[in-house]
Amino acid sequence: SDDIMEFTEDLSTHRKSDQERADVLANPGFGDFFTDHTAVIDWATDAEGSRGTWSNARIEPYGPIAMDPAASVLHYGQEIFEGLKAYRHADGSVWTFRPHANAARLNRSAERLALPQLDEEVFVESLRRLVKTDVSWVPSGDGEALYLRPFMIATEAFLGVRAARQVSYRVIASPAGNYFGGELKPVGIWVSHNYARAGRGGTGAAKCGGNYAASLVAQLEAEENGCKQVLFLDPFNEEAVEELGGMNVFFVMKGGKLVTPRLTGTILEGITRSSIIQLARDRGLEVEERTITLGEWREGINNGDIEEVFACGTAAVITPIGVLKNGEEQIGDPDAPAGAVTMALRTELLGIQTGKIEDRHGWLE
Ligand code: COI
Repeated sequence: SDDIMEFTEDLSTHRKSDQERADVLANPGFGDFFTDHTAVIDWATDAEGSRGTWSNARIEPYGPIAMDPAASVLHYGQEIFEGLKAYRHADGSVWTFRPHANAARLNRSAERLALPQLDEEVFVESLRRLVKTDVSWVPSGDGEALYLRPFMIATEAFLGVRAARQVSYRVIASPAGNYFGGELKPVGIWVSHNYARAGRGGTGAAKCGGNYAASLVAQLEAEENGCKQVLFLDPFNEEAVEELGGMNVFFVMKGGKLVTPRLTGTILEGITRSSIIQLARDRGLEVEERTITLGEWREGINNGDIEEVFACGTAAVITPIGVLKNGEEQIGDPDAPAGAVTMALRTELLGIQTGKIEDRHGWLE
């Protein structure tokens, strides 16, 4: 895969103006604006559909994708994606956070969705090339970064249901601030009793578009009930908390111990999740990955055993959870301020990512 590391470059002749870019960077929000370029690599099998190869790695102008209307991603959803961020440090240098962890997870997702494996170094190089080309789009404000969205889609025009023999890998980039908009504040969470996001042998642990599509109707229900995210329960134990629509969840117990649902094969294996577990252990805090039920959440908030709850993810970073709405019942105080442990972990994680705190685990590349 040596020559696949050689990205050709077709630079945009219609880049956004300095003024347009400055306006975006002044208030990036989340996911609304994109940089001037995209990284692309194609994959196809030989005529017998056996050996597949990656080719034509390139940086090209950002823009619509021409695709056959029969492309199987449009019909059967054969698609996976990743999310990670590039951060600007005070000296102007730009760093990504644990990109090899995303590369490895992309390949685990690819295996589940019958998509091809992509060499980890090629994945990391694709990010490096795109960030270098569009480096002027990396914001420097507090809690801001360039959100990178690698994804892989089945582009073969074929309506039979089988793994595609033609695939495309792409990376787009979007300047990002707070996922939930505005200033950081505790969010409300809605418990979904009507919908699940995963099942036995399903795609719950894969980062595939279908999981997020399946979460949308539940997310609408959450929003109708004044909540920012939906909480999914374990499909095999509806008393057990699993994860939010697009984030993992943590509890801070009295005494500082952290509890988070264990990885069961139906939960997205968050890289922020695993980083938080490490940072908490570094602080001497105990971390338990185990089953936690709605009943324990209710009782813990009411008797003080649970002091803080937070959501985490690349997009969400660490976002405090104020209240849990479970049908008629409200658990927690919507107006409670963010917890001290939540904010300390957030400050430390962002500090490492933005170069203000030593990167003792070698997470920045
Ligand atoms: C991320 O945190 O990067 C995700 O993929 C989740 C989504 C809310 C954007």
